[in-house]
Amino acid sequence: MKRFVLAWLFRAAVILGLVAVGGALTVVLGIVPIKASSGHFRLTRWFLHFAKQQSVKTHSMRIEPPFSLDDPRQIQIGAGHYEGGCRPCHGAPGQPAPVLPQFMTPKAPELSHAIEHYEPRHLFYLVRHGIKLTGMPAWPASDREDEVWAVVAFLRKMPAGGEARYRELVFGEDAPTDAPAVVKRSCARCHGGDGLGRGAFPRLAAQREEYLRSSLEVYARGERQSGIMRPLAASLSPAELDAAVRWYTARPAPPGRGAGSEEGRKLAEQGVPARKIPACIGCHGPRPEAIHRGYPRLAGQLPAYVEQQLELFRKGVRGGGKYVDLMREVVDDHMLTPEEVRAVAQHFGSLSTDP
Ligand code: HEC
Ligand code: HEC
Ligand code: HEC
Repeated sequence: MKRFVLAWLFRAAVILGLVAVGGALTVVLGIVPIKASSGHFRLTRWFLHFAKQQSVKTHSMRIEPPFSLDDPRQIQIGAGHYEGGCRPCHGAPGQPAPVLPQFMTPKAPELSHAIEHYEPRHLFYLVRHGIKLTGMPAWPASDREDEVWAVVAFLRKMPAGGEARYRELVFGEDAPTDAPAVVKRSCARCHGGDGLGRGAFPRLAAQREEYLRSSLEVYARGERQSGIMRPLAASLSPAELDAAVRWYTARPAPPGRGAGSEEGRKLAEQGVPARKIPACIGCHGPRPEAIHRGYPRLAGQLPAYVEQQLELFRKGVRGGGKYVDLMREVVDDHMLTPEEVRAVAQHFGSLSTDP
């Protein structure tokens, strides 16, 4: 009996060995086809799709969005990114499918079917991590899951809105004709030709030149994380970067919006001495003395953006230029409460301009 089992084990080992050698030979001799031109067999396609769905479901358990996916600002941010970061492969409502991605294996699909069948956390997982061996890229800033959720917020609305809504979300008014080509082509659709940010994006108008320049450089190098700004900043030639920075710093300052509270004003002008929080205007203005050219103006900045940046500082994921450590000290050690953050953001948003 024992000998019989041993004999069978021996035969099984020989067969497995032959299969392994055969497999290795087909690879070494280059017999395995890697060509995309033939597509996948129907069975392979089904199997890969099934494996993908199961993997996505398992790995996205317990993932929750950090904000409401109906937030119009997040939807607009997601739409702005979709146009540059996803449409070239997946197409957009009312537009002909892009040609080259149809010759990929697997093809980059039109997304309305996926959007209907996946839950938001599944879409988040796919966009955050990409899909191996398919050409579907991962999010290019690993600490910016908030940006990935903005894309998911937009995806959920994309099929229903149709072409007109897509264009309305993605493109604002045309930039003025005297704007540099790079601004018209790559910046205006989000920041506006006027640099006022279309109600969703940071305002660049009348921002300090050195700060804008340094921000674009650190985005391009990934030292300030943003999966939205990194590819855009990295694609600029030195001349284009210069033209964009000059254009935006010369735009008229943003008008103040809304009314700030007394609490917000006090915080900005005096800080909270008891908790060693310094006055924000000491570095950001507005104040009678000149402020450092590398420190950003906050007057007229979009409150939702100011809150978001303070949250990134609080989490320790907001990179920046060579002076960023000054700001880290403000936020790391003596954290502002969420109410204080809101109040100070509203206050700066209500100011019209630096004196
Ligand atoms: C370079 C081309 C490329 C870019 C850019 C790209 N994708 Fe993809 N994407 C693909 C390919 C190819 C697949 C198909 C993978 C598969 O079938 O397994 C895919 C799959 C997907 C899927 C899953 C579809 C399904 O049915 O399972 C989603 C969702 C998706 N992409 C969303 C996005 C979003 C959102 C963006 C932009 C942030 C994006 N993709 C950018 C190529 C791309
Ligand atoms: C798809 C929309 C989009 C486009 C297009 C875009 N931006 Fe941005 N930009 C953003 C978002 C979103 C942020 C905030 C990112 C973050 O959280 O750090 C930002 C931030 C910035 C900042 C930092 C602002 C600050 O106060 O720190 C600068 C500078 C900037 N963008 C310049 C540009 C320039 C120049 C272009 C054109 C080459 C451009 N952006 C194109 C969306 C966009
Ligand atoms: C000692 C100087 C200093 C003080 C005081 C200071 N900051 Fe800053 N802050 C900076 C610098 C420098 C940056 C720019 C970092 C970078 O991106 O390079 C910054 C960036 C910021 C940003 C991001 C701006 C943008 O456009 O992305 C916000 C928001 C901000 N600070 C809010 C505040 C608030 C609110 C206070 C007061 C509680 C404050 N800061 C006090 C130096 C300071």
